[in-house]
Amino acid sequence: MSQALAAAEMPRLLDPQSYQDLGYPHEQWQRLREEAPVARLVAPDGRDYWAVTRHADIVEVSRQPRRFESGKPLNMELSRDGGQVQLPPTVLDMNPPVHGIYRQIISRRFTPRGLRRVYRDVEDLALEVLDEVTTGDAFAEIDFVEKLSAPIPIAVIGWMLGVPRPDWPRLFDWTNQTAGAGDPEYQQGRSQQETTEAARIEIFEYFDDLARRRREQPEDDLVSALVHADLGDRSMSVPEMLMYSLVLVAGGNETTRNATSGGMLAFIENPDQWAALCDDPELLKPAVEEVLRWTTPVIHFTRRATESCELHGQKIREGDLAALFYPSANRDEAVFDDPYSFRIDRAPNRHLAFGVGEHFCLGAHVARLELEVIYRHLAPRLEHIELTGPIERLRSVTLGGIKHMPVRYKLRPAA
Ligand code: HEM
Repeated sequence: MSQALAAAEMPRLLDPQSYQDLGYPHEQWQRLREEAPVARLVAPDGRDYWAVTRHADIVEVSRQPRRFESGKPLNMELSRDGGQVQLPPTVLDMNPPVHGIYRQIISRRFTPRGLRRVYRDVEDLALEVLDEVTTGDAFAEIDFVEKLSAPIPIAVIGWMLGVPRPDWPRLFDWTNQTAGAGDPEYQQGRSQQETTEAARIEIFEYFDDLARRRREQPEDDLVSALVHADLGDRSMSVPEMLMYSLVLVAGGNETTRNATSGGMLAFIENPDQWAALCDDPELLKPAVEEVLRWTTPVIHFTRRATESCELHGQKIREGDLAALFYPSANRDEAVFDDPYSFRIDRAPNRHLAFGVGEHFCLGAHVARLELEVIYRHLAPRLEHIELTGPIERLRSVTLGGIKHMPVRYKLRPAA
C-alpha cells in the first residue's frame, strides 16, 4: 500500500463520528497490519502521524520511553501543548526519570499486594451496586451502563481517593465532561474545549478543598498520600496534586466502565461463553483478560520521537508523532489465534489493553478486581440477558465507550 493510498483510504482511524456511529474500524486496522503496519497518515487536522497497528511494534515503541516520549501531546485529539491552558504534566505525560518519581508515590497501593487490604471494601462497594439490579423482580429492563458499569468504578476510585460518598455523583458528571468532552451529550451547549475547561475548574476547586483538609488531618487515602508526598527536596505543588487526582479519576472511570459494558455485550453476543463462565468459576480470571482484550477501551495514545530511528522498516524522524492503536494490537493474528473470536479460556492472552512498558496502567489490578467482582456475582444470578434497543457509543478517538446499553434480563432465584 503506498502511503498516499493509505492516507486516502484510512479516514476512520481518527474520525470521532465514525467511532460513535460504527464502533472500532477493525477492517482498516487489519489492512494496515497486513499492508502497512507503520503507516504515514494525515490526521483530520492536517498533521502527519505514524499509525502503529501491530502488537510487536507497539511493544517496541512503548519499551523505549526516552526515544518515544509521552504527552507531546497525549493523544491526537490534543494539540502539542494540550490546549491554551498551561497545566503541569501528569504521570501519563511525564517521561523518565521524573515519571518514575511521581509514579512511585502511590504505585505500591495499586499492586496486587497493596490492594489485598482493600479487596473487601471494593467487593462491598460493587455488591451494593449489584444488589440494586439483582434483587426484586425476576425480570427487569435497565440501561446496563447507568445502573451497573458506571457506578462501580466511580465508587471505587472515589473511595480510594477519599472523596466522601455524597460527592461521588459529581465525580461521575465531571469525568463524563472531561473524558467525553467531544460528545454532544456531555457538552451542554459548549465546545469540546469549553466543556473540558469548565469541568476541570470544578474538579480542581473540589480537590483543592479536599487536599486542604487532608493536609491538616491525613487519612489512609490517595489524596492524603499525594499531599504528603516527599519529592526529595520539595513536596508536590497544588496544581500537580490536582492534575494527579484528575488523571486518577478520569483514568479509572470511562475505561473500566467500558470494559464492563463491552464485556457484557460480548457475552450477550456469545451466549455459549456466558454459559461456560456460569458452569466453571475457574474461568473467571481468563474471562476478565479476554474481556479486556476484546473491548480494549483505550483506542490510542501518542508518542513523539526524540531522535531519528527506524521502526518496522520506516524511517522515523525526530519530532514525528506516532499513534499506538491498542485495539489493533489486540486483534493481531501474529499473536492471537482466531483473534476475532471471543473465547474466555484463551491462554496465553498477552493483550495490550493496559499498554506496556514505562506507562503500563497504574490501575490495571483495580480494574481487574472490579471486573472479577462484577462477573463473579452476576454469573450465578443472571439466567438470561438481551439487548432491547441499539447501543449508543461515545464520540471519541481516544476512548472507546458505550454510553447507553438498554437490556432486559431474567434472574435465577437467589441461592
Ligand atoms: C479497563 C480499565 C482500564 C484500561 C483499559 C486502562 C488503560 C490504560 C492504558 C492503555 C494506559 C497506558 C498509557 C500509555 O502507555 O501511554 C493506562 C495508564 C494509566 N492508567 Fe489505566 N486503564 C484502566 C483502568 C485504570 C484505573 C482503574 C485507574 C486508576 C485507579 C487507571 C489509572 C491509570 C494511570 C494513572 C495511568 C498512567 C500510568 C503512567 O503513566 O505511569 N487506569 N491505562
